[in-house]
Amino acid sequence: MSEILAQPLTLPCGATLPNRLAKGAMTEGLASPQGVPTPELSRLYGLWSDGGAGMLLSGNIMLDRDHLERPGNVILDQQPDTAMASALASWAKVATRNGNHFWAQLSHAGRQTQTNVNRHPKAPSAVKVGLPGGQFGEPVALTITEIEEVVRRFGMAAVACKEAGFTGVQIHAAHGYLLSQFLSPRTNLRTDEYGGALENRARALLNAVTTIRAAVGPEFPVSVKLNSADFQKGGFAFEDSLQVAQWLEQAGVDLIEISGGTYEQPKLLGVAGMEAEESQHVKQSTLMREAYFVDFAVAMQEKVSIPLMVTGGFRHRDAMEQAIASGGADLIGIGRPMCVETDAPARLLAGEHALRQYENELSLFPNWLGFLAQTNALRGLATFAVQFWFYAQLDCLGLTGKACPDMSVFAATRRVMRQQSVWLKARGR
Ligand SMILES: Cc1cc2nc3c(=O)[nH]c(=O)nc-3n(C[C@H](O)[C@H](O)[C@H](O)COP(=O)(O)O)c2cc1C
Repeated sequence: MSEILAQPLTLPCGATLPNRLAKGAMTEGLASPQGVPTPELSRLYGLWSDGGAGMLLSGNIMLDRDHLERPGNVILDQQPDTAMASALASWAKVATRNGNHFWAQLSHAGRQTQTNVNRHPKAPSAVKVGLPGGQFGEPVALTITEIEEVVRRFGMAAVACKEAGFTGVQIHAAHGYLLSQFLSPRTNLRTDEYGGALENRARALLNAVTTIRAAVGPEFPVSVKLNSADFQKGGFAFEDSLQVAQWLEQAGVDLIEISGGTYEQPKLLGVAGMEAEESQHVKQSTLMREAYFVDFAVAMQEKVSIPLMVTGGFRHRDAMEQAIASGGADLIGIGRPMCVETDAPARLLAGEHALRQYENELSLFPNWLGFLAQTNALRGLATFAVQFWFYAQLDCLGLTGKACPDMSVFAATRRVMRQQSVWLKARGR
């Protein structure tokens, strides 16, 4: 039994999470082509609720159907009609059946929208994603009225989720999605009040926080997923992140989840990008090294007093306990292991030593072709393919209640591609 991980956590708004383990947000791809939650999505979250985490984060719930993170996302871009409200409520009911929290992650993909959804997505500025393969189109800069509309939708969607029975919301401002694009001087070249100084680059995010807080009241958990850094030359740096965290605390946020990286530099998954990583100024602690962002959290704890959730790389119970006991993290986020072992939190709470590191066992290429992954383009492809393996696990769990860990990365990639083309056909694309 882990006493440290079993401690409840009370948030500034007064809500209490029953323990220190949270399922990180993972895009499910299980919504209908219209973006409505399905029984498969409920089945998946029922398993996770039974799995013992104190809090489950939903995968990306998108605020604009033309700016999805991927086909199959839940879409909440207008006041829900009766069918949508009822589907959201059924999902939330199953996802909280074990007494855990269930928070909605609200998101807009901006320039990271794939071309199969939108060839000319809106973004802070017309700066295209720097990855080969034509997966991302030429973005168009948002007008001020359009930015205000995105901010309004954060408030609308938060209220819809609260009414449906979700117990909190999270604004996705990390991983190179729209609000993260605003924060980065590399992708935000604006010269109006949304660009330039950090105060301006953080304006869209802070306005989203204020709008949500005003709409949901003081007692409902509001959190933000924030990059410790983008780890890219000229991008959002750790000093910026520390300042933004302080503004978020002043704006009434209950919890900041710390992650890092973008599609171009996927540090969030502990994977190297195509360009050189921009190192950050942070004191290296003696904490166990497996967690990617724990040193950043330790430094951030000195600047803010709101709870911090840290996600990325945690696999050993003693590393999680040490992060909490040392004050580095208040809540531990777990992602990939839960795509197969939906009861991972319960097992850790019962004293299990470690979770399996599937990501280290998977590869698109068989060993004898491993040299192929040395080239930049093929390494990028291999990263996406491994990610598709995790998507396929979520699909299997949703459809059958069982993961399919014996599936090869190649077969999983084909499965996800097939699924996406069915979805795109249904949307007439
Ligand atoms: C299949 C999959 C889907 C993901 N989808 C999301 C998402 O919708 N929103 C988000 O903020 N992060 C997403 N992530 C990132 C995770 O929340 C987490 O930050 C990352 O997996 C690192 O944690 P881990 O090492 O425990 O897996 C996803 C990761 C995976 C593997």
